[in-house]
Amino acid sequence: MASGAPLDVQRIRADFPILSRQVNGHTLTYLDNAATSQKPTQVIQSLVDYYERYNSNVHRGVHTLSIEATEAYEDARGKVQRFINAPSPESIIWTRNTSESLNLVAYTWAEANVGAGDEIVTTAMEHHSDIVPWQQLAYRKGATLKIIRETETGRLDMEQAAEFITERTKIVAATHMSNVLGTVNDVKALADAVHRVGGVMLVDGAQSVPHMPVDVQALDCDFMAFSAHKMLGPTGIGVLYGKPEILEVMPPWMFGGDMILEVTFEDASWNDLPYRFEAGTPNIADAIATGAAVDYLAELGMDRVWAHEQQITAYALDKFKDLNGITLLGPREVEDKGAVISFSHDSVHSHDLGTALDQLGIAIRTGHHCAMPLVRSHGIISAARASFYIYNTEAEVDILVDGLNEAEEYFSKAGIL
Ligand code: ALA
Repeated sequence: MASGAPLDVQRIRADFPILSRQVNGHTLTYLDNAATSQKPTQVIQSLVDYYERYNSNVHRGVHTLSIEATEAYEDARGKVQRFINAPSPESIIWTRNTSESLNLVAYTWAEANVGAGDEIVTTAMEHHSDIVPWQQLAYRKGATLKIIRETETGRLDMEQAAEFITERTKIVAATHMSNVLGTVNDVKALADAVHRVGGVMLVDGAQSVPHMPVDVQALDCDFMAFSAHKMLGPTGIGVLYGKPEILEVMPPWMFGGDMILEVTFEDASWNDLPYRFEAGTPNIADAIATGAAVDYLAELGMDRVWAHEQQITAYALDKFKDLNGITLLGPREVEDKGAVISFSHDSVHSHDLGTALDQLGIAIRTGHHCAMPLVRSHGIISAARASFYIYNTEAEVDILVDGLNEAEEYFSKAGIL
C-alpha cells in the first residue's frame, strides 16, 4: 500500500525500458506525456502473457481459455471501477478512446435528449473531441452551443458559466484538466449547476484520471471519458463511465454481437449493462493491460502521483522564468494546474523548437494540440508543450531548459532571431 512518501522515481524509471533508449545520441528525455505516456514492463508483460497463455474470445466460450480471458477482462473492469470510485462495474464501458466515449454520449444520450432550441454548454479549453461532436449535434438538432471562456489567468470564467447554464441547458461537457493550459477545472461546480436545471454533466477526464485522484461519485458527474494510453496503458482502449440509472435508459449506439439479448430476423432486444454498449469482440488484451496499468498507479497512490507532478511543475515554472522570448499559456502557478507547460517563442515556430530539442533527445509536443480554437484564442497558431509524468525528474526539466537555451542560441546565430 502506498504511503505519503514521495515517489521513488529512480525505481519507477527502472520499470520503463524505453526510458533508457538513446535518441540522436542522447538518453531519451520524454516530455510528451499528455499525448501518450510510456508503458511499464508490468503492462507490456500483461499483453505478452495474455497472447502467450490464454488468448481467447470472451463471454462466448465454455473452454478454459475463454473462461480465463473473460475473468481477466471483467477483473480489469472492476479495477477501473475502483480506481475512479464508480458505483458498479456495470457503469464502466470499454471504448476505443476518449473521443469514442464522448461520441458515444453525443450519439446516444444526447441524440435522445437534446432537441431544437436546447442548449449545450462547453468550454474554451476543450480538445477537438469535446467540441466537434457537440457542434455536429447542434447542427443535427437545431440546438445552440455555448462556450464558457478562459479568463486572463487561464481559468474558466465561472461567472459566465453561471450565466450560460439555464433551464435550456441539457448537457455541460467540460474538460477536467486542459491538455494545453494544464488548468484543472471545478467540474463539481459545473455539475451542481447543471443538475439544478435538470441537465447532465459530462467530464473529459483524459488528462485528469492519469494524474490525480478522481472520484466520479464525489464529482457527481453523469459521464466521464478517458483513455488508457495516457495512464500507462495501451493505445486503442478507453472508458466511458456513466451513472447506472442513466446508462440503463440510454439507447444503444453500435449494433452487433454481445450487445444483444435475443435476435430474430425481424427484431432484436438488448443485453444488460455494460455489454449493451460493447458490440462485437472487444479489445480484450488491451482491457486486461489497462487493468495492469491501474494496478501500477493504484500501488503508487494517486495522491503521491499528483504531489510529484505538482512539485516538478512548480520547479519547471520557476525555471521557465529565466528563459528568453518564451510566453507561457495558462496558469503561471501550480494552484489549479496539472503537469502541462505550453509555451510559444516570440520568433521561433514551435515545430523548429521541437526539432531542435529532438536533436538533444528531448521529446515535446508542438502544434495546435488538437485544440485549435484554444491555441488560436491566444493569438498564435502553434505552441510547444512539455508534459510530465511519474518518471520525470527535475534533472530532465534542467535538460529541457538547457535545450531551449541552446536552441535560442542556435537560431540567434543563424540570424533567425
Ligand atoms: N490529446 C492529445 C494531446 O494533447 C493527443 O497531445
